[in-house]
Amino acid sequence: MTEFAPRYLKDYSAPEYQINTVNLEVALNDSATLVTNSMSIQRMVTTNVPLVLDGEHMVLKSVAINGAELSSDDYQVTDSALTIFPNAEQFELTIITELNPSANTALEGLYKSGEAYCTQCEAEGFRRISYFLDRPDVMAIYTTKVIADKSQYPYLLANGNKIDAGELDDDKHFVTWHDPFPKPCYLFALVAGNFDLLTSNYTTRSGRQVALELFVDKGNLSRAEHAMTSLIKSMQWDEQVFDLEYDLDIYMIVAVDFFNMGAMENKGLNVFNSKYVLADDLSATDEDFFNIEAVIAHEYFHNWTGNRVTCRDWFQLSLKEGLTVFRDQQFSGDMNSAAVTRIKNVRTLRSLQFAEDAGPMAHPIRPEKVVEMNNFYTMTVYEKGAEVIRMMHTILGKEGFKAGIDLYFDRHDGQAVTCDDFVAAMSDASNVDLSTFKNWYSQSGTPSLIVTDSFDQSNNQYQISVKQVHPQAHDKQQKQNLHIPINLELLATEAINAEGSTKANVVNELLHLKETEQTWTFSNIDKQPIPVLLGNFSAPVKLEFDYTDEQLLAIMVNASDAFNRWDAGQKLFARYIEMLVNDEATEVPQQVYDAIADILNSGADEALKAEQLTLPSFDEMADSLDKVNADKLANALSRLKINIAAKLTDVLFATYQQCSSTEFAKDGKAIGKRALKNVCLNYLASAKEFDSVVIGQFNNSNNMTDQLAAIKAAALNDLPCFEQVMASFEQQWQDDTLVMDKWFSVNALHNHPDVINRVTKLLSHPKFSLDNPNRARSLIGAFAFSNGKYFHQHDGQGYQFLADQIAKLNTINPQVASRILTPLIQYKSFAKEHQQQMLTQLQRLNDMPNLCRDLQEKLTATLN
Ligand code: TRP
Ligand code: ZN
Repeated sequence: MTEFAPRYLKDYSAPEYQINTVNLEVALNDSATLVTNSMSIQRMVTTNVPLVLDGEHMVLKSVAINGAELSSDDYQVTDSALTIFPNAEQFELTIITELNPSANTALEGLYKSGEAYCTQCEAEGFRRISYFLDRPDVMAIYTTKVIADKSQYPYLLANGNKIDAGELDDDKHFVTWHDPFPKPCYLFALVAGNFDLLTSNYTTRSGRQVALELFVDKGNLSRAEHAMTSLIKSMQWDEQVFDLEYDLDIYMIVAVDFFNMGAMENKGLNVFNSKYVLADDLSATDEDFFNIEAVIAHEYFHNWTGNRVTCRDWFQLSLKEGLTVFRDQQFSGDMNSAAVTRIKNVRTLRSLQFAEDAGPMAHPIRPEKVVEMNNFYTMTVYEKGAEVIRMMHTILGKEGFKAGIDLYFDRHDGQAVTCDDFVAAMSDASNVDLSTFKNWYSQSGTPSLIVTDSFDQSNNQYQISVKQVHPQAHDKQQKQNLHIPINLELLATEAINAEGSTKANVVNELLHLKETEQTWTFSNIDKQPIPVLLGNFSAPVKLEFDYTDEQLLAIMVNASDAFNRWDAGQKLFARYIEMLVNDEATEVPQQVYDAIADILNSGADEALKAEQLTLPSFDEMADSLDKVNADKLANALSRLKINIAAKLTDVLFATYQQCSSTEFAKDGKAIGKRALKNVCLNYLASAKEFDSVVIGQFNNSNNMTDQLAAIKAAALNDLPCFEQVMASFEQQWQDDTLVMDKWFSVNALHNHPDVINRVTKLLSHPKFSLDNPNRARSLIGAFAFSNGKYFHQHDGQGYQFLADQIAKLNTINPQVASRILTPLIQYKSFAKEHQQQMLTQLQRLNDMPNLCRDLQEKLTATLN
């Protein structure tokens, strides 16, 4: 079998040719779209060299230089490249290709989503549209003429501003677009279809009038309002916080049902997965509304961090993604509860990124070796990448960070640059040495901080020592010390012990750990304090310190930082889950239940209480335990949940009732109450008596958050009402694509030994199709990622089910296949009895003929 060759960061060299302008004419047709691409090309090196253009999955019709057509002897074409031999420094190259969009199930390049045409070019999809230098450091000015049938495709869209339009023969029409900003081809986009259109407008701070246009499938107009509002908020926020304004006269967003990822920031023409656009109260949850606002913001923020300043090469992906995720997280924190937003980010990082960083595909946020670029749109590049930006924000302070950003844009607007350029701007603007910090860009693995402390009563001195330890990762990298910012608070114990006293901290300070081990000494400390570390999660690391239960309980109540208060509770839960797994405990001490009751009875806001009551996830626990037996872990988690529910039934039910409301509101308070109410419901539902409460909530709900929470509670606790509420939900929502995705997911979460049968049967449900990534993920992904107990069931059937589906997706959609492989490649985190079964399936996949590049890269990394 062919081994696909890796590319290395160290081998980067500047392009030998530049493409300055691109003139595209695209005549759309389902099976034979004709693309005429005229480029003005300039040689950048002194001597004549061949020009090698990327291109795949299309038919080459003709090649012409300066208008003169080449004979096939004058060029070479393979299934991945076109090589020509120009002998001028500057010339016009015209290439005609033919594409088959209706056969394109990979959803890269030009494809059909339902009745509409759309494109996805990041990372390397433009090479499926025309032969090109498909690399982000080749930036051109694009003019695009789109031609299609007028009645079927009334809207013809591309990047930039509309400059021409008109009628053609055979009921066709055309629209021509011009984008004045030079851009890499991965930001190219084209859409054609018949949509409902929501319009609005925005005046930028300097007075530019911007038309805002949101295109959705016919009939969905009433679900587009929230996305539009979110866009306007994003535009305002970026002006207020970063002094960044929009730069074209029009901003368009198109929502499509067939999309591999969340959304795409194409210049002036974002294409979105419809689940990150469409929402109304009946069909979308509070979480959906939150995510839409975040993704709309993310793509909008890319206009500066990604588009105006882009990446030199794909190894630098975190330059735009880490920074843009950090920006959208800050935005979400400002629009919603900052503490709860931060807690959600940390949960994602700990349950998904930490595992990735411990597995066979571990890579630094700036990878050094890539086989298939699509495999590097990862939790590490995005989420850990955002943590690295956040640490710079912490180290430099808000003003220093802003000065760095300003300098970055002063220096690099209009350029394709590297992560080094970004850090240099940050460091230069405030004269802070970031040389040790930069190791975060080249080192994989989650560091651990080993913390010890001592208190000397005789001279009132407190000492704390922190040691950084780096795991030996799969990639066998040599590890170096990192610059780790540690927010430290010292809690005074006497203040804590004094009943009813307010919290008192003696020290609140940012420590900079740069050496292997450092010690800090604090004077004038009266009593042994409790160290509270990593406030607001100041670094993406694991913390090892021997807290007593009492200390954790004290932090839960007294720490000044909300993240720390939440985290102490999580540590306490994790400790007892681990003891239950290892049969070191059969019960949890009463004081833990008391602490939960205290939280419920406290005056804290409901959204935060909901987070504090949520146990660490299966994934998070699996990552922190060594070689875990999935059954034991699932049982420990459910035992703790059942015990909490049993001991605290009254207060949980009282909270449930207090938070229930017959009126539907969508302010932060109402959202927090719904979150808390539904966390309580899930606890309560672990007892069969609460079947009727779940049915009641299902029947009376006037919003999707409550309705979905009811069927989830029924599924996760295998309640008697499960089949009944699921059938009724399906009946109600069968014609709603996005809601049916939720229904498929809840089926996959069923906590029942027969769930694999259920999921297998659903593969032939009339509404199921592997061709639609949202559908595939909602059923297969939800089972493999979120039903840990049965995915890992001991007979290996869960693994086999997943591998069977991946085998089919291998030819349908390699990107989706590769993403849902994740739970299998992390086999080493599980106990021996799981490992062999997982390996059997990995081996079986690896032996398949025609293995796509995406799967092959991961399987090779896993099996070698
Ligand atoms: N740049 C996009 C984002 O982060 C990511 C993306 C969208 C993408 N679609 C893709 C990446 C397809 C690879 C392939 O917002
Ligand atoms: Zn992005």
